[in-house]
Amino acid sequence: MKTRKCFIRQLVLLILSLLLWLYIYRGDNYQEEAITLQDKHELIQNQHSDLNKFYRRPTLTMDLIGERLLQTSLGHHSPVNLNMTEKARYVNRMCRHINWQKRTVKSRHPVFFFSEQAGLLACKAPKTGSTLIGALFRAINMSGEKNVSKVFQLGRNKIHKGLDEIRDQLITEDIIESTSHVMVTRDPYSRLYSAFIDKYFLLGRLGRDLAIHLKRGFKEGNGTYCGYDYTFQDFLDYVIHLATNMVEMNEHMVPVSQLCDVCNVRYDLISSQEKLTKDTDQILKLIKTVSIDRLEVIRKSIKSQQSTLLSLVSSYIFDYNNNKNDCPDKMAFSAKLWKTFQVQGIVHSELVFPENEFSQFSFHEREAANMTSAILTQIKYKPLSSPERDLQRRRYLVKAYSGITWPTIAKLQNIYRLDIALFGYPSYPPTII
Ligand SMILES: *[C@@H]1O[C@H](CO)[C@@H](O)[C@H](O)[C@H]1NC(C)=O
Ligand SMILES: *[C@@H]1O[C@H](CO)[C@@H](O)[C@H](O)[C@H]1NC(C)=O
Ligand SMILES: *[C@@H]1O[C@H](CO)[C@@H](O)[C@H](O)[C@H]1NC(C)=O
Ligand SMILES: *[C@@H]1O[C@H](CO)[C@@H](O)[C@H](O)[C@H]1NC(C)=O
Repeated sequence: MKTRKCFIRQLVLLILSLLLWLYIYRGDNYQEEAITLQDKHELIQNQHSDLNKFYRRPTLTMDLIGERLLQTSLGHHSPVNLNMTEKARYVNRMCRHINWQKRTVKSRHPVFFFSEQAGLLACKAPKTGSTLIGALFRAINMSGEKNVSKVFQLGRNKIHKGLDEIRDQLITEDIIESTSHVMVTRDPYSRLYSAFIDKYFLLGRLGRDLAIHLKRGFKEGNGTYCGYDYTFQDFLDYVIHLATNMVEMNEHMVPVSQLCDVCNVRYDLISSQEKLTKDTDQILKLIKTVSIDRLEVIRKSIKSQQSTLLSLVSSYIFDYNNNKNDCPDKMAFSAKLWKTFQVQGIVHSELVFPENEFSQFSFHEREAANMTSAILTQIKYKPLSSPERDLQRRRYLVKAYSGITWPTIAKLQNIYRLDIALFGYPSYPPTII
């Protein structure tokens, strides 16, 4: 009698575990290694109907003709290889076929850098090189004979202070008439990863907010803690959560097409973060009101690795001092910085974190120049050529997305579909190096 009861109990337990196992592994075939890319594509296509059940229909409606037109035009010539003027024309043409009224996500209004002197109005979109654009406008606008090279060494905390900026509500007909309108795009997948590294892997309010939202704590290890305990997958699902529920999304993640209200503001020049350095040369050529000497200083500064790195280091020191409590161990933070520079293609991925070099710094603002020199010295041991830099960046990007589930990618595709369609970016994150 006793053994029979025992047997039934074990049987029930076995069945329960089997059901649990089936439940846990129910959707796992999406990640099956053996599935080819083509299969995956079809999987996502088929899934779309399913997915619609889980999230609201995008409120930004593109009429069918427009959508089809976008797809066919993309098939033939992608706008990626057009110059800035041609790309703007292409996008403006595409806009006629889109019902551009509602928004895919909840976000702030557009903000522009404005230079009356140069006749330029540039949309401010974080993670598309907006610190460089901000510095450019500051430099154009600076009075007198000042050497403007220092402007390009300022951290983003000093650039994004509202100077040389104007909100869309304050833009008058006069301003619209007298300026060329510029915006910069970026591949949404690489932009998301860059936002994750900068704002969530490193320290800051946004990173903290996500840790709180997920009810996670700090990342612990080596007898200390530093930063927040979540993954890139968690972050992407959070972005999807914000979009799906129309919760205000931070500007770093808002689709650029929406952030710059691309179909209402008629842009004359559309650049991309991928080609920004080259394109700024073109923009500088259009400016007639700035002395040749100053334009030369600006050109040199934009290309200077020292300036770029100093601007970054200054920003990171500033961020660290504002968020020290989230990483009391300076060396742990320095190690994170090193990793960040590797992801950004500044430091070779094989260069080991130079603990000794960093131990001398206390992360005071005035150390920015010395820290930059120390990093530049390290970089010289194993410098990266320009193609190597691109390759390294891509390698990190591929790795970051390799673990992301396909349902997540499909939902991101939908949130960023206008960035993808209008600016000609791939529908999928890169999977091949
Ligand atoms: C920059 O330009 C704006 C208008 O274009 C002007 O109001 C402002 O004073 C300028 N700033 C400097 C530092 O020249
Ligand atoms: C401007 O300053 C930088 C360094 O601060 C210097 O290298 C450059 O030669 C200066 N340019 C001019 C035109 O004075
Ligand atoms: C602990 O230290 C090792 C080696 O220094 C490093 O690779 C690892 O990322 C550190 N872990 C944390 C959580 O800081
Ligand atoms: C920067 O380095 C120089 C030379 O190594 C040193 O004299 C100076 O005190 C350092 N500055 C700071 C702020 O640490």
